[in-house]
Amino acid sequence: MDHFNYKDGALTAEDVPLETIAETVETPFYCYSQATIERHYQVFSEALTGLSATVCYAVKANSNLAVIRVLADMGAGADVVSSGELTRALAACVPADKIIFSGVGKTREELSHALQENILQINVESEPELALLDEVAGSLGLQASVALRINPDVDANTHDKIATGRQEDKFGIEWTRVHEVYARASQLPHINMVGLAIHIGSQLTDLDPFRNAFIRLRDIVAILKADGHEILRLDLGGGLGIPYDGSPTPTPSEYGRVVLETLGDIGIDLVFEPGRVIVGNAGLLVTRAVFVKESATRRFVITDAAMNDLMRPTLYDAKHDIQPVKEPQNGVNMENVDIVGPVCETGDTFATNYALPSMEAGDLLAIRTAGAYGAVMASTYNSRPLVPEVLVKEDRFSIIRERMTVDTMLEYENLPNWIK
Ligand code: LLP
Repeated sequence: MDHFNYKDGALTAEDVPLETIAETVETPFYCYSQATIERHYQVFSEALTGLSATVCYAVKANSNLAVIRVLADMGAGADVVSSGELTRALAACVPADKIIFSGVGKTREELSHALQENILQINVESEPELALLDEVAGSLGLQASVALRINPDVDANTHDKIATGRQEDKFGIEWTRVHEVYARASQLPHINMVGLAIHIGSQLTDLDPFRNAFIRLRDIVAILKADGHEILRLDLGGGLGIPYDGSPTPTPSEYGRVVLETLGDIGIDLVFEPGRVIVGNAGLLVTRAVFVKESATRRFVITDAAMNDLMRPTLYDAKHDIQPVKEPQNGVNMENVDIVGPVCETGDTFATNYALPSMEAGDLLAIRTAGAYGAVMASTYNSRPLVPEVLVKEDRFSIIRERMTVDTMLEYENLPNWIK
């Protein structure tokens, strides 16, 4: 459920017509609904009732300071994957003892930053990382709280580029070696082993891979316990999928039931790292039609948003529902159009053969389900400045990131001194 609905003939975010925002900030822009973010966080948390669970929002999904702050105010922790995200999470008032640092290639500087901020735990993904972390912690006179990320060799049945739990993927330590690596890690002087972590992929629309991974995790915990290790925390990662084009996806409560069935009685604190399921449906990318162009076989609606603003369609063949901001009248004729951006690549396409009422230049469209992995993945390709982000709460809206300017882009560039 989200809070983007037609009211009085116009698409609104909560009580604010998108047209009103477009007049203020111009297009394209991202628009988020605070009530939707809050609702999704609450639904996800409630799905874990009965478990000893901490929800650490995966900041990578949408790292706008205001978005993180809304979640922090609801009690969320944060899962971060870079020094930048750690800085953001702290700036958004997430307590350090609710922050987890994930990622396969953390640098010495990043590990040092995490240790100095005294965060809850660092999820380590390799033996070289363990050795480096031990050394860095030692040099700072600190102990590092560590969970080992295991690679459970489970196929998440999701898009190939976002499946992370198969043996051939770069993530985690092979589950068959965890027993040995855990024992070795426990001997390191500046490492304090606290548990295990997994994350098998993103946009999972089938619960079986979760079930299989959790069962594997359970088996590994039994082996480690038999060896005398105390396991304090299990991090189950994120990954729950959301409906992009109306296709059904498992609900948080169905997901919660799988956790309960597989790990409910394990007696160990659980951590979750949801990203997409919290913010995905809470955001739209609003764009204006620049031209409507006819060719022999196609009608193109050319928008002022492009692949650089929302990468998902071209990168993952993702299908995002698209709606006209002006409510279509009942019984209106629909026509099939290709909705494309202005970038000089055929991949700059948001949808093909998509049914819309007749569109004209100047009409606004909302590309839905763009709250996760939208603004955060944008680039300035074609020297297109990053677009603004707007947060709506009831009848108010606030620009939570300004539109970048071309001058800002140029400020970061210099001519070499041999060019006069
Ligand atoms: N934890 C870890 C360690 C992760 O790598 C990720 C996502 C998450 C949690 C959050 O997963 P979520 O609940 O959002 O599925 N750009 C892609 C998605 C990449 C996900 C990467 N890792 C997309 O637009 O589909």
